[in-house]
Amino acid sequence: MRKKLIAGNWKMFKTVPEAANLVNSIKAGLSKFSDADVVICPPFTALQVVSQLVNESVVDLGAQDMHFETEGAYTGEISPLMLKDLGCRYVILGHSERRAYFQESDELINRKAKAAVKFNLIPIVCVGETLAEREDGRAQEVVRGQVRGSFAGFTPEEMEKVVIAYEPVWAIGTGRTATPAQAEEMHAFVRGLLKELFGESVAGELRILYGGSVKPDNTQELMRLPDVDGALVGGASLKAESFVQIVNESTHDTVKEGA
Ligand code: 13P
Repeated sequence: MRKKLIAGNWKMFKTVPEAANLVNSIKAGLSKFSDADVVICPPFTALQVVSQLVNESVVDLGAQDMHFETEGAYTGEISPLMLKDLGCRYVILGHSERRAYFQESDELINRKAKAAVKFNLIPIVCVGETLAEREDGRAQEVVRGQVRGSFAGFTPEEMEKVVIAYEPVWAIGTGRTATPAQAEEMHAFVRGLLKELFGESVAGELRILYGGSVKPDNTQELMRLPDVDGALVGGASLKAESFVQIVNESTHDTVKEGA
């Protein structure tokens, strides 16, 4: 059975003192034995302080992006080696905001994902269609292209070390969540695609997170879907109370329909 994973993407929020406060409140709110894996992904500037604060807690550390090279003349960039150095275990890659505002392609995301796996960082690779693509009836085609492109050349063994997040762009920061039926349809589609590309074992084991306006009051209905294995949370991860509630709600009902 796949263990739930709840990841908070803080995006470009929180100064160092604010980050320290937030992580302390999250730690205080979480029980010592969470049934879910919990990850927080602060901005680069707060990684060090958060790393020290989550040490020996149930919370893991993740970054929001990285370069694919180990080091070099890439002004402004951060390498996988540097993230490892700070104690990161996860890294979000190919978030729709990076695809849209920084023109990140599947090819670039693929290079980054390969580098992450090489450095023993677990990439959380984001996929998802825009509203126009969904209305055109092209949602599955778009997501298929993103999955194929982002993991081109991956072996099944490498795929066992990754996480995918389905984040429909129209549901991010809009308060508009995918309905449980829409989420399950796409998650099941992605799992079927993984089976076709990498085999049954990868498809059965790989965690697929849902992201897009996840809140405490919609967590349970999303997390009990058979192919939804956790959440990538934006806005609601910026407040300890709502993030902790989401973590608790995520394992509230682990009985899968049809299981
Ligand atoms: P919101 O939860 O604010 O919609 O953001 C989702 C997201 O982009 C997480 O990566």
